[in-house]
Amino acid sequence: MSELRINPERLWDSLMRMAEIGATEKGGCCRLALSDEDKAGRDLFVAWAREAGCDVSIDAMGNIFARRPGRKKSALPIATGSHLDTQPTGGRFDGAYGVLAGLEVVRALNDAEIETKAPLEIVVWTNEEGTRFPFGGSSVFVGQASLQAAYAAQDVDGLNFAEELDRIGYRGQLPCGGRPLDAYFEAHIEQGPVLEATGETIGVVTGARGQARFDITITGMEAHAGTTPMPARKDALVSAAELIRAFNHLGLAHAPSGVCTVGRIACSPNARNTIPGRVDFTIDLRHPERRELDEMILEIRALCRAETERTGVIVELRRVDYEEPVEFDPTCIATVRDAAEAAGHGSQEIFSGAGHDACYLARLLPVGMLFIPCKDGLSHNELESATPEDCAAGTEVLLRTLLKQAKRA
Ligand code: GLV
Ligand code: MN
Ligand code: MN
Repeated sequence: MSELRINPERLWDSLMRMAEIGATEKGGCCRLALSDEDKAGRDLFVAWAREAGCDVSIDAMGNIFARRPGRKKSALPIATGSHLDTQPTGGRFDGAYGVLAGLEVVRALNDAEIETKAPLEIVVWTNEEGTRFPFGGSSVFVGQASLQAAYAAQDVDGLNFAEELDRIGYRGQLPCGGRPLDAYFEAHIEQGPVLEATGETIGVVTGARGQARFDITITGMEAHAGTTPMPARKDALVSAAELIRAFNHLGLAHAPSGVCTVGRIACSPNARNTIPGRVDFTIDLRHPERRELDEMILEIRALCRAETERTGVIVELRRVDYEEPVEFDPTCIATVRDAAEAAGHGSQEIFSGAGHDACYLARLLPVGMLFIPCKDGLSHNELESATPEDCAAGTEVLLRTLLKQAKRA
């Protein structure tokens, strides 16, 4: 073990090559789920995984499983991974880091000619970001969302998930779910400011905030902008503005644990001289405690009802997703912590504000996660950045974590 090392330059080179796919002008990435760029990123990963001797299989949601065999036939695989899709103005590390850290672990084991007892599997989960389509591959894998609902979803241009999955050639033969795995470990950038502030290299993740996502439609009345008296209007955009402001106050009232975000909005007919008749927008609510999250949802509903009573617009609220707060497995947490110590890296516990594939997997399996710092805690931003040293440190810890788990098989 003492001479078993990951290759930091190879890891960094792979991260930077992946980042060329969907590269944006400001140095970030746009690889929306099931886009041509997502396909190119997947193809590159699959080629690398096959070169590294992995068996690659794909399930009905397009989740990719790259297996490095182990020596004990009956042992369940230890899984690691993350996602390759990004936000529209995403960074180079969110998701890709966890996938390529897993790949570097496999490459390092190959270099050292080490055969683990349990097989290792690198998993690329489909559509983690949930930005183009609502349901992700890890959510369907654990039975939280149905395959039918995922297939039926449409993006803002009316393109269908199942057709897009076919178009990029990633609707696999395997059923989604029911795949036996021993445990799942995910490496990720922190996407927040804690590690940078404390100067520790490794975040040992203990769990993640609960989250609720809604689509909201406000229906008012389209009318002439010049002739309709102000008091007679039912302006959907004005109601949306009132509600968005109120939702922001709601988030502030639940801070620092609670957060509330309106991230997408569409106004119809979006014409300069027609009073807007319809506005669609999204709400993303998060809180580490279920009771508080549910309270925030009740407050959102009450604000919507009050807006209808006040103005006569119709406000429809549709729940898209609800995830309870999650706590990771104590043994997996300890394995990550011990691995950080053994690798000589300072660590501290962190409760994640962001959602991850690991959070879904934790409903089914023992799960652990590790974070590395990112510059200014910035993520979901093209300027997202992490150092080669921290990327290597997290991958060393992942290697030790997976080896420890594989020995238990
Ligand atoms: C995932 O990117 C999230 O929104 O937490
Ligand atoms: Mn991510
Ligand atoms: Mn993300």
